[in-house]
Amino acid sequence: MKNIKLYDKEFCLFIGAETIDRAIADMADRMNKDLQDAQPLFLCILNGSFMFSSDLMKQITIPGTQISFVKVASYSGTTSSGEIKELIGLKEEIAGRTVVILEDIIDSGRSMAHLLTYLQEKNPERIVVATLFHKPEAAVCHVPIDYKGIELANDFVVGRGLDYDGLGRNYPDLYILKS
Ligand code: IMP
Ligand code: MG
Repeated sequence: MKNIKLYDKEFCLFIGAETIDRAIADMADRMNKDLQDAQPLFLCILNGSFMFSSDLMKQITIPGTQISFVKVASYSGTTSSGEIKELIGLKEEIAGRTVVILEDIIDSGRSMAHLLTYLQEKNPERIVVATLFHKPEAAVCHVPIDYKGIELANDFVVGRGLDYDGLGRNYPDLYILKS
């Protein structure tokens, strides 16, 4: 599909599914080599990362691999800081473990910076950051990225797990907002 409409906005096909598949396969190859002995705990950051995590994890062959599905809950109501309150769904003990964060996209880097602070307090052996998409020009908080799929300019995109107000997550290709 060349164009999609979500609510009032038009989006154009931007990056095809095969290109994204290849980037994920490359990432899986590198992880399989680098983390072979790490018995890693992968953290799928919901909602956006559900499709990326599924595609990636099918190609991970590391012994002792675990995956947990977590959601970031922000402060709401009286504060609008957007800061992380807690990570819902993290049942596993992460002290002493290699934790691999799977994010859909790093934009300003704020979400990842908060997540790293939260997880570091739990004394993991190591935190590895993997993101499918990265917008380097949008960086406000500079966070270390160990695995990156595809770099983007500072444009709004949907598809492959990313949404516009709840719509568009299901498309396997990436679409860009029509200007
Ligand atoms: P950050 O804290 O600014 O890095 O933003 C990260 C979050 O914003 C991501 O996990 C996405 O949910 C959302 N986001 C950032 N850029 C886009 C985009 O282009 N399309 C859809 N969601 C985005
Ligand atoms: Mg997200």
